[in-house]
Amino acid sequence: MCGIVGYIGINDTTEVLLNGLEKLEYRGYDSAGIAVLNDEGLNLTKVKGRIAALRESVDASNHATMGIGHTRWATHGVPSEENAHPHQSSSGRFTLVHNGVIENYQDIKKEFLAETDFVSETDTEIIVQLVEKLYEKYENTAEAFRQTMKLLKGSYAIAMIDAEDPETFYVSKNKSPLLVGIGDGFNVVASDSMATLKLTNQYLEIEDKEIVLVSRSQVEIQKLDGQVVERTPFTAEIDASDTEKGTYPHFMLKEIDEQPIVMRKIIREYQNGDNQIKLDKDIRKAMQDTDRVYIIAAGTSYHAGLVGKEFMEKLANIPVEVHVASEFSYNMPLLSEKPLFVFISQSGETADSRSVLVKIKELGHPALTITNVPGSTLSREADYTLHLHAGPEIAVASTKAYTAQIAVLAILAVDTAQAKDLTLDFDPLQELALVANAMEVLTDQKEEVEQLTRDYLATTRNAFFIGRSADYHVSLEGALKLKEISYIQAEGFAGGELKHGTIALIEEGTPVVALATQKNVNYSIRGNVQEVVARGANALVISMKGLEQDGDAFVLPKVHELLTPLVSVVPLQLLAYYAALHRDCDVDKPRNLAKSVTVE
Ligand code: F6R
Repeated sequence: MCGIVGYIGINDTTEVLLNGLEKLEYRGYDSAGIAVLNDEGLNLTKVKGRIAALRESVDASNHATMGIGHTRWATHGVPSEENAHPHQSSSGRFTLVHNGVIENYQDIKKEFLAETDFVSETDTEIIVQLVEKLYEKYENTAEAFRQTMKLLKGSYAIAMIDAEDPETFYVSKNKSPLLVGIGDGFNVVASDSMATLKLTNQYLEIEDKEIVLVSRSQVEIQKLDGQVVERTPFTAEIDASDTEKGTYPHFMLKEIDEQPIVMRKIIREYQNGDNQIKLDKDIRKAMQDTDRVYIIAAGTSYHAGLVGKEFMEKLANIPVEVHVASEFSYNMPLLSEKPLFVFISQSGETADSRSVLVKIKELGHPALTITNVPGSTLSREADYTLHLHAGPEIAVASTKAYTAQIAVLAILAVDTAQAKDLTLDFDPLQELALVANAMEVLTDQKEEVEQLTRDYLATTRNAFFIGRSADYHVSLEGALKLKEISYIQAEGFAGGELKHGTIALIEEGTPVVALATQKNVNYSIRGNVQEVVARGANALVISMKGLEQDGDAFVLPKVHELLTPLVSVVPLQLLAYYAALHRDCDVDKPRNLAKSVTVE
């Protein structure tokens, strides 16, 4: 959460920073600010609100060739102009942006900054005040910055300007993401390469607790002890145009529509010349060697993990546990003898998952990350990575990454089954091609889903999603989508579980969305629908072709029964989208959320 960007070069810095922040806004959008340095000194602009408000407030005539910017997701201190970044030291000499949480900020305040007057409620301000304090001792900015970084505990990605040195900015990171982009006559730093792709596709990864001195023509990476590190840049493979909305009103709608294309891309990426699965042999071996898979994920990725568990258990005969990342560290289960950890994360940056990864690496266990961002922290720090190939997902609500995760998990499970010589009557590549076609049919049915949204969700304050077996997992995802972008209180339930308490909430007109895609539970889920209808519920049944009954509101094209989550989720994504639209909610940037959750 929070996005930072920094630039030193030849172009108009203000525009570069604003452009970058617009691309990073998915990381938080409570408040924003930029600081630019030119011959007349440092110019700071901060606003409560979005980058659009910042754009209106900055003085566009203010030309500068160096600056830093920030878009905030509040942790310490309410969203306000005072708490917005960049933050300055008392003298105004040092100015800094920060993404992360400084865990020992109270201790630092007491020990080093008891006399300092603070203007914000943030943990960040102590960093910049500490640099100023230590500058008194070391009389050298790089050294003061280094000594400050040595004292910080917690997560941070930082970029700092010294107003008396227009030739360098100072950068460091620990746990929070940060990349340095290499240009011709300029250099940039950003939380995500998406921010600066229009400028360069050459990036340097920065490791935890490294310090980087960035000038126009040079990037010097140092360890905390000053030792200089050589590193080769990598090429960011995202196309800058992938990060644009094009003619779509919202990224979320574009990303829902991209799902068939993503399925086909995944098929291409994971298929060899003989139309067989192509997968890294080391991953195959790790899957073969393990006696239990532990899937670790959060939110939507956790929901994909629940579907993945079914694939691995049913197809590859491996026991699987799926854990919410934020709980795992405190309630670590008794591990099997040969565990394999599988991290599922669109962003590859989720702090909760990363803290589990750090812990299990300390214990010496192998880890595989399934992510949409190959150079991300979870990808770099795991032993193996499987790429989702979904293209940048910008809308805060995850859609195409969820379906990509499920598709890749199916391929992984079948590859493992084949490695174990298990006989299967299921070719995931062929079946995914059919799924792509079915998704296309569904994305063409927007008007029908929009009408259903009007009929069932227009005025409601709450809604329930029910399903059994695989449909239960998708119910959880459907409810999460609806609540996060439309603010309708929604809960996903196992169809059989509702009557053990929650059915008390069903009253006249309560919308209940029921999924019926599984033959073996079709009869039982229909029974659960009758139970809620008898209590006044407005039931919207979404069934699979072949299992439909009179009165079903929506029938899905038929796909392999194991892969129904890939299609049943599409109308649920669209229901959430239209519900948010009708309620005038900000579809792509729902309140209080951020796309990449880099704080625990
Ligand atoms: C919901 C959503 C979140 C993420 C969760 C994990 O639409 O996007 O629930 O799934 O924050 O994020 P990643 O997958 O990046 O680890």
